[in-house]
Amino acid sequence: MLVNPIKRAYLALESWFNISFGTEWNPLYHLGTLSFFLFWIILISGIYLFIPFHGSLAGAHASVEYITHDQWYAAGVMRSLHRYASDAVVITVLLHMFKEFASGRHRGFRWFSWVTGVPNLWVIVTLGITGYWLVWDELAQYVAIGSARLMDALPLFPGTMTRNFVAGEMTDRFFILIEFLHLLGQPVILVFMLWIHVKRISNVEINPPRGLAVGTFIALLALSLFKPAISHAPADLSTVPQELNIDWFYLNVYPLLDYWTEGQTWILTMGITLLLMILPWLPPKKDGPNAVVDLDHCNGCGLCFEDCPFDAISVQARTDGARFDEEVVVHPELCAACGICAGSCPSSNPFRSSKTELKTGIDMPQLTVDEMRTKTSEAIAEIDGDTKILIFGCEHGLNVNRLDSTDTKGIRLICSGMLPPTLVEYALKKGADGVMVTGCRQNDCFYRFGNRWTRMRFEGVRKPILRGRADRNRIRVHGGSETDKKEIEKDLNAFRAELVKLNQADEISSDKLN
Ligand code: HEM
Repeated sequence: MLVNPIKRAYLALESWFNISFGTEWNPLYHLGTLSFFLFWIILISGIYLFIPFHGSLAGAHASVEYITHDQWYAAGVMRSLHRYASDAVVITVLLHMFKEFASGRHRGFRWFSWVTGVPNLWVIVTLGITGYWLVWDELAQYVAIGSARLMDALPLFPGTMTRNFVAGEMTDRFFILIEFLHLLGQPVILVFMLWIHVKRISNVEINPPRGLAVGTFIALLALSLFKPAISHAPADLSTVPQELNIDWFYLNVYPLLDYWTEGQTWILTMGITLLLMILPWLPPKKDGPNAVVDLDHCNGCGLCFEDCPFDAISVQARTDGARFDEEVVVHPELCAACGICAGSCPSSNPFRSSKTELKTGIDMPQLTVDEMRTKTSEAIAEIDGDTKILIFGCEHGLNVNRLDSTDTKGIRLICSGMLPPTLVEYALKKGADGVMVTGCRQNDCFYRFGNRWTRMRFEGVRKPILRGRADRNRIRVHGGSETDKKEIEKDLNAFRAELVKLNQADEISSDKLN
């Protein structure tokens, strides 16, 4: 399969980070949680700064100078942490957005997370703008005048704000309004919007791995100590500031006003926002049929409900008069069609009804558990050689058919999480010498938990577990993306060599028995 060049570039960047951080602590795998962590730093340092900060036009700049210079070792460090964590959050949020886009994780059922994410950009940027305003230095003056020009161009407040600032009439009342927005209004809106943003996702993690959090904090602290955040000269509305150090993360729109009209600037920013909003519906579009429940084979155990990464399954009282108390229901508008539920259903057991069609409690019309079993049997029959290896891979990782050879055959699934552990046992029993399972890179599953659940099922810590009778030495799990063919191939060869030894050992012990 041809990997889109944006995704290829992003995967290369992730691989590069994997070399330094490993897959556990790779910041590119934890961009959402890292953003949350940065918000904590911003919040705690902000509360600290609120104590020495003087919230009036006359006192603001002097109090920030006191914070920066007189109390450089405490409040000054807090100020710098507040500044640098705010800059960092712009980077992590933009990368988070780019990653979701590059991996195609903004389409279909995910439109909700995407569309509720876009306004967060506005809230974060405007929070930064009101933050710069509070210092009331020359940069704040520049921001105030630029913002006034932009606001005045809207039919809502025609001319009123510019008159205030240009005429040098910035009032304490208005300053307190900005303070209120920065300290309370915008943070409350952001928390509310983030809650909506992750509302449709189950088992949401909002904390990054501890090592990554500690490392991030130390990096920000070091930056704060070596290059403390400082202010410009106090604001003076009767003069025009000559030289300004713009924070390009937050204030990038203001320099545009030197070249463009306010109207053109609005058209650009609103145009980008609108384009981002409609991205989930732009071609190419790919949606698979949703999971289907078959009550005749569902005992309401709820394992699929536990495993669904998108809260698309719920459990309700039995409706068909069967002897079980509960049954599961699929909510089509939330279903990602990943098939993880089919992999978690205890009825997806290929050893059941071996002569007839295999029916299960919850299944995917585009690739049923019965079809998976048939493909498994057919593949084993096709493979030749001393080490017959069957590889199960997912649609979003490496196309496993690229690894096909005389003794190796790949079967493509929607997600590795749709593989019932008993099917691996079945494959070994039916003649495969080894089974390899690949999926997306570890910690980076397209469907959030596919490869994690697979590992846990194989390790026996998540139901349905891989039973003890399946020989673990003959099972290999190797996550990898479309661009990781070489690494997977290398591991496959190592696995093949191990299987040769295992087969030889088995032959020797069976000779002894005879
Ligand atoms: C304010 C900053 C943001 C934070 C703190 C944040 C955080 C998160 C978190 C924690 C998740 C759940 C990830 C998981 O558990 O798998 C998530 C999911 C998601 N976010 Fe954000 N996000 C932010 C902004 C954005 C923006 C600006 C966009 C894009 C416009 C976006 C798009 C998405 C999408 C599409 C998902 C769904 C991923 C999935 O279903 O696998 N987010 N976000």
